Amino acid sequence: MKKYILPFCFLLFLTNCNDGKPTEKDKTSKTEKDSKAAPETKVILNSNDTMKFDKNMILVPAGKTITLTLNHTGKFGKRGMGHNFVLLKSDVDVNDFATRAASAMKTEYIPEGDEIIAYTKLLGGGDSDTIIFDAPKKGIYTFLCTFPGHWQLMKGKFIVK
Ligand code: CO
Repeated sequence: MKKYILPFCFLLFLTNCNDGKPTEKDKTSKTEKDSKAAPETKVILNSNDTMKFDKNMILVPAGKTITLTLNHTGKFGKRGMGHNFVLLKSDVDVNDFATRAASAMKTEYIPEGDEIIAYTKLLGGGDSDTIIFDAPKKGIYTFLCTFPGHWQLMKGKFIVK
């Protein structure tokens, strides 16, 4: 009896090995796929009544023209739940910028200065805006909604590679 048990165990070990391998491989290729996600030149970003963007990372290629559409898929108006997309230059202090932006009500929360690369208009529920701009040089940038109190939830990384 014993001599049958050993080969069986060995077989089980082999089987486990083979079962394990494809899983490992799948995992690796999925990770590779994620990190090699194709950069987009047409970007669609959605925002909603719960003060959220549907992306916290946008990946675009360097040297291309980017067409970005921001949609507000909610129902609340822009005075209560306004959203915009504001892309900042890489050396901007986001906290300081957002504080100044929040008090720039007359210009729909776009403060004076040269810290912005591109921005959409302020949207209420049901609105959309599309902007076209050249991707900045390779690097990691911050985008945010500058409506008062929103940026800590509504921000993300804009990666140019
Ligand atoms: Co907002």
